[in-house]
Amino acid sequence: MEERFNMIQLIRGFKDILPDETQTWRHIEDTAIALFQSFGFKEIRLPIVEKTELFQRSIGEHTDIVEKEMYTFAGSKGELITLRPEATASVVRSYIQQKLYAKEPIQKLYTIGPMFRRERPQKGRYRQFYQINAEVFGIESPYIDAQLIFMLWTVFMRLEITGLSVQLNSLGCPACRPSFKEALASHLASKTGSLCSDCVRRQDKNPLRVLDCKVPSCQEVIDDAPSMVDYLCDDCARHFNAVQSGLASQGIPFELNPRLVRGLDYYTRTAFEIQTDALGAQNAIAGGGRYDMLVKMLGGPEQPAIGFAIGLDRLVALVMQGLAQKELTPDIFIAALGEKVREKTFEWSCALGQEGIRTEIDFSDKSLKALMKRANRIGAANVLIVGTQEIEEGAVLLRNMQTKEQVTIPIEGMVNHIKKHLT
Ligand code: HAM
Repeated sequence: MEERFNMIQLIRGFKDILPDETQTWRHIEDTAIALFQSFGFKEIRLPIVEKTELFQRSIGEHTDIVEKEMYTFAGSKGELITLRPEATASVVRSYIQQKLYAKEPIQKLYTIGPMFRRERPQKGRYRQFYQINAEVFGIESPYIDAQLIFMLWTVFMRLEITGLSVQLNSLGCPACRPSFKEALASHLASKTGSLCSDCVRRQDKNPLRVLDCKVPSCQEVIDDAPSMVDYLCDDCARHFNAVQSGLASQGIPFELNPRLVRGLDYYTRTAFEIQTDALGAQNAIAGGGRYDMLVKMLGGPEQPAIGFAIGLDRLVALVMQGLAQKELTPDIFIAALGEKVREKTFEWSCALGQEGIRTEIDFSDKSLKALMKRANRIGAANVLIVGTQEIEEGAVLLRNMQTKEQVTIPIEGMVNHIKKHLT
């Protein structure tokens, strides 16, 4: 008997990026890189593994990423190493280790590549995903915050993405955050009974993380929680106001979101996320913020810094959705009823296609109902309904699938009539 082999499948949470998609990946990367370069950014390429300690110290011990999501294993000498869950920590490590600051403290760097987080896989959430990161070192001015968000926004505008919002918050600094943390902790302590088990744990170790919780029973507690912006010191408040003025002057539509704390502990002051209404639960397509303490915390000199990462997988999904709507759906679906009209509709479909009108026709025998169903499914803008009676009468019906309006089109010179109708 012939031996049969099992198929070996890829690992859950990982994915293949197939030829249909790679063009879009390249287009997005090229668009972002061209723009970043015109704002003075240079590329840096870094290893995918780093010492585990780097992520523990930067992202924070009591974050979901470090507590539950890192791929960590022993190196050849038994030391713990981790597949990077994000790139900022590595960029900072390199800025310090390679003494980039000594040559020129102001560095604008970008990097593209895969990140790894052992999260529960779902649509838009993978265990290997890709980011484009942009990081700026050495500039304290709020103008750079506004400019970075402006640059990020411009990437999305160049890619013609709509339905986006910029969520903005300030997370304060070591001078003002402790009093906020205290207020938050005492609010949470008074509501412990309503918190999920994760938040009960977070409450002491890292109360800010509670504001991130998505569990429904925690939402009421979160809604009533104090806001960081009410606790900002004068310097942080001035900085935050200046960022907002900068964004407003460039016409960037932002929303203040006091619950935006981000999932990483290194942020200070400005924190932001770009969210979309088109991808369901995984709605953040980019996120970032200021991390003025991190260079020092990782053993470097005191240098302010700010950056963001775009989630490429989600951005590709958004761009491809737009393409599907704009380009790949048919202008005309020919609903041909019966064998007798086949020859004529075959001719018309060739003529329409030749004229550059996206035409779809089903050369099988189906009922009008089944044909309309398919037209709907593939997103056809119009359906041309053709039965024997229509051919005898010399006119066919063109139905607009959105407005449901129907017009009669004479068969004589039909292609031209349809062309006119579509413009
Ligand atoms: P983050 O918010 O953890 O920030 O990730 C940035 C973006 O990466 C998210 O908005 C999302 O689009 C994408 N992303 C995150 N996790 C996944 C996943 N499991 N599957 C698919 N996409 C995902 C950071 O990583 C910071 N390092 C950003 C930063 C740079 N802050 C300052 N500089």
